[in-house]
Amino acid sequence: MNGAVDRVLDRVKLRRAPGRPDQVHLAVTDLCFLPCLHCDIWKNKTPDLDGHHWERLIDRLGPWCAPAGMNFVGGEPLLRKDLESLMARAVRNGFEVSFNTNGWLVTDKRAQSICDAGASIAYVSLDGISAGTVDHSRGRAGSFDKAMEAIDRFDSLPNPRVVIAAILHGENAAEFPELLDFVRDRKLQLVVQPLYQNFGEVGFDRNWHESSPLFPKTGAGIAAIDHAVDILAAERMRGEPSATQWDSSWPTRSISETLSQTTDTSVERATPTCPSMPRATFGCAISSSRWGASLTSSHWHSSGMVPPPCGGVGKSAGVTGPATC
Ligand SMILES: C[S@@+](CC[C@H](N)C(=O)[O-])C[C@H]1O[C@@H](n2cnc3c(N)ncnc32)[C@H](O)[C@@H]1O
Ligand code: SF4
Repeated sequence: MNGAVDRVLDRVKLRRAPGRPDQVHLAVTDLCFLPCLHCDIWKNKTPDLDGHHWERLIDRLGPWCAPAGMNFVGGEPLLRKDLESLMARAVRNGFEVSFNTNGWLVTDKRAQSICDAGASIAYVSLDGISAGTVDHSRGRAGSFDKAMEAIDRFDSLPNPRVVIAAILHGENAAEFPELLDFVRDRKLQLVVQPLYQNFGEVGFDRNWHESSPLFPKTGAGIAAIDHAVDILAAERMRGEPSATQWDSSWPTRSISETLSQTTDTSVERATPTCPSMPRATFGCAISSSRWGASLTSSHWHSSGMVPPPCGGVGKSAGVTGPATC
């Protein structure tokens, strides 16, 4: 009886008190091995926390905020040998599990064990649709192929569902139409992350874009970003599955509000509008799960489980706040 009541309350979102997270991001490792141009996390040498710390955390988070999403991120989360066991624990605690990966460590065996652990969503990073572009920004030849192989491996299994996570930056904007075609053809979904300040840097540098190798430096570069954003916004407005939300519980914004956010790609707007989102770059964040909030900005707050100063619009843990709070 109680179970049935809980299910009804969950559906109308009454069981969870306001302010409890409906998405939690765990940065389970700060280690990585790809020398990405946009992320210096790979320079970090901090040892990972032991599994039992994460187990205890997951067991405590479950009763507090499940049912909710739990995203395993890093660094490269697949570096953890106990990732699947942590994922399975999260599933047992009532979380819908997702994770991010650069694809390099996704073997057949690993894809199967992640499937067996019950993961629901694999966010596979693919920042373009050519080897030249992806390998350059990821700093290693073979990165494009590895990401594509990972997509194929997960796609051949019942779960996790593949969502392409693409950073939009000055070197890949022109490839977005083709990337979107690929996402449509493969019946996948796309999360677009605007380029932020390098993820390995500590402290916000408001001039970070001046030294970022991937920030568009010319009018033509910014126009290419605008074009990509227009195409993505149009996709979303048409309600295409590649760019629509998959879970009705995610907050949505009106199209006009969204467009005012998403079409402004000027450098001036790179100035943060909210202290909790200091890394907003192009003034846009197009996500198929939620407009106005991006995977990476939320990850940044929530890896430390610290609510953003603005309160994240009642979603706490900073994970679903809009780009301007
Ligand atoms: C920090 S990575 C960790 C997961 C995994 N190593 C990967 O690359 O997918 C999480 C996401 O943040 C994105 N990311 C990293 N640096 C970024 C930056 N400077 N701006 C925007 N997104 C970034 C990555 O592309 C990835 O999709
Ligand atoms: S973006 Fe991912 S793959 Fe690249 S350095 Fe950062 S953690 Fe590693």
